[in-house]
Amino acid sequence: MLPEQRDSITNTFVVTLVLCVVCSLMVSTAAVALKEVQSKNKILDRQRNIIAAAGLHENPDSMSATEVTDFFKPERIEQKMVDLATGKYAENPEVTGESYDERKAAKDEKMNATIKGDRFNIGIDKREKYARVYLVKGSDGKLEQVVLPIYGKGLWSTMYGFVAIRSDLKTINGLTYYEHGETPGLGGEVENKKWKALWKGKHIWKGEMDDANLRVGVAKGTPSGENAEYMVDGLSGATITSRGVDSMLKYWLSSDAFGPFLKSLATN
Ligand SMILES: Cc1cc2nc3c(=O)[nH]c(=O)nc-3n(C[C@H](O)[C@H](O)[C@H](O)COP(=O)(O)O)c2cc1C
Repeated sequence: MLPEQRDSITNTFVVTLVLCVVCSLMVSTAAVALKEVQSKNKILDRQRNIIAAAGLHENPDSMSATEVTDFFKPERIEQKMVDLATGKYAENPEVTGESYDERKAAKDEKMNATIKGDRFNIGIDKREKYARVYLVKGSDGKLEQVVLPIYGKGLWSTMYGFVAIRSDLKTINGLTYYEHGETPGLGGEVENKKWKALWKGKHIWKGEMDDANLRVGVAKGTPSGENAEYMVDGLSGATITSRGVDSMLKYWLSSDAFGPFLKSLATN
């Protein structure tokens, strides 16, 4: 081919087209091939956060995939589906299977329920009817903690996390967030180890397990007096994120969400 033919418009066009097709094929092949790995990593990340919320390992990020999955054997951490309206365990295979996805369910008219938002506003209208809970057991098989998924709006994003509650069902053992889009250094401080450590031992209710007695939450500044038993420090420069954490904790522990389940655990 002569140099002038090589530089022709047709030639340039063909080379560009071939390059585009090859690149897009490479990108889409990588996306398809990595999808399974990505979803496995997502599950592992959530499981690490459950382990962290329950305080079962010093540094869950350093654990191998096998170490993490070993924790999720039913004799150590048992997963159950709960019907949030009744607080009873769900048996229907539609929700007990691995394929059940809470986020999809929250968008499906048949599988969701309305969040009233009149008492505890988490900035979201609908939630799933059935939620996955994690029962953490000791070597004697007795319930040590229950880990519940929580979510709600911060300033920029929906924040997804877990709260671990001790078997007295009155005391927080830990709280973690595994997904959010808050600003690093401001709302993103929900991931700060020192702030997370403040939750350990905080009491949820003042007295009976009733919504009117819900005291757990985030203070404006440092909690003082009686509040220190129930609340942690607000994140500085991140009042809206802090308020989001406060509302979502109250909402998910109230009778509108996990309240009936916690009551049923308490009576068993
Ligand atoms: C770039 C930028 C990022 C911000 N990110 C957050 C955030 O992640 N969470 C939050 O509550 N407030 C964030 N804020 C601050 C809010 O806009 C608001 O001023 C703040 O929540 C008020 O909190 P304060 O009363 O503690 O100052 C951000 C502000 C700016 C300018």
